Amino acid sequence: MPARMKEILEIARRYDIAVLEDAAEAIGSTYQRKAVGAVGDVGILSFNNNKTLTTFGGGMLLTNDKSYADQAYLWSTHSRKNLPHYEHDEMGFNYR
Ligand SMILES: Cc1ncc(COP(=O)(O)O)c(C=O)c1O
Repeated sequence: MPARMKEILEIARRYDIAVLEDAAEAIGSTYQRKAVGAVGDVGILSFNNNKTLTTFGGGMLLTNDKSYADQAYLWSTHSRKNLPHYEHDEMGFNYR
């Protein structure tokens, strides 16, 4: 059941807050003709084994904002800097 994204986005835009849309269980749902998960600034889908579409684990992050995508990619790959040696200056995760 999609959230009331129009109202949520109006409030978020007023206060300059990014909207992270948890669409973990909602693949295939739409909100005002848009795919749920693609309405906010960042959306997530879960592919865990209790979901509509499963890969028995993992998920997907959706965004049109390259800076959010780059940051998520960095965090999901141990926050390893793009250097020939191992360097991490913030906490990261093994979420590939
Ligand atoms: C609304 C919602 N958000 C997040 C999650 C967590 O997803 P995952 O199991 O892929 O971490 C779930 C899982 O049930 C969910 O229903």
